[in-house]
Amino acid sequence: MQNQKPIYDMGNATAGVFKGNSISDSIKQIYGESAGLFSNLIKSKLTDIKKEYTLLDVGSSKGELLADILELLPEYNFKITITDTNPDAVSQNCIDGEKIVADAELLPFDDKSFDLVIMRYVLQFNLFENQKNIISEISRVTKVFAIVQHGGADSFDPESWREIVNRIFIDDDLPQIKRSGMYWSTAEQIENHMDNQNIKYERILSKKIQGLSQPFIERYSLSNEQATKLRTMLGDKDFLTQTTWIIYSKE
Ligand SMILES: C[S@@+](CC[C@H](N)C(=O)[O-])C[C@H]1O[C@@H](n2cnc3c(N)ncnc32)[C@H](O)[C@@H]1O
Repeated sequence: MQNQKPIYDMGNATAGVFKGNSISDSIKQIYGESAGLFSNLIKSKLTDIKKEYTLLDVGSSKGELLADILELLPEYNFKITITDTNPDAVSQNCIDGEKIVADAELLPFDDKSFDLVIMRYVLQFNLFENQKNIISEISRVTKVFAIVQHGGADSFDPESWREIVNRIFIDDDLPQIKRSGMYWSTAEQIENHMDNQNIKYERILSKKIQGLSQPFIERYSLSNEQATKLRTMLGDKDFLTQTTWIIYSKE
């Protein structure tokens, strides 16, 4: 029996931030570039635009990313399903399609149910064992390919990075972002799991993005004092590693 997953409050400004609408470079890079990247990958791999493709968005939240992707692919016809563990996010999801409250670790779908699966910034809200299950589930329900984008730890010295970053989530002066049950895996940890499970993947892009603090500051409308404290606490660890993979169907 699975333990109930924590439901995280994503903040009051996700409508803009998850679309990358901000003057901040870090938010533009963390959120604003995904839709263009994802839609180009989709165009290169799903070439029969007369076909209706099945699409699953895992951890869709309110559908901010998927709405932007669809806007860039007006010629496509998708039959869409979205899932999230957060029932409020699912009920407020803006996408026209089937909406299901479900844990990414235990997706209520048959093998190879979806031509295309997308998932962005979901893994880190789960412990590492759960992240591995999620990746395996994504590969299981995928028929053609999945695009997974991950916000992860520093690949070069993950322990030192995590030691600092974990502190911001237990700080009494930052109650809006207090949380437990998260784990910041590195891209390499996820890839080791895929190698061990014989899951085929391609690493499309991995880049260090400065300003891990900025999404928290904007999403949770932190005060100036809180923003300064957050940036000071993070110091030279105020960055994340963004990695994008294409993941293929499990044989
Ligand atoms: C940072 S938001 C990202 C939302 C959207 N994917 C995007 O990139 O704009 C993370 C979302 O993942 C969901 N989530 C976290 N763990 C999950 C899990 N195990 N199963 C399903 N959804 C999960 C959260 O509820 C939240 O809505």
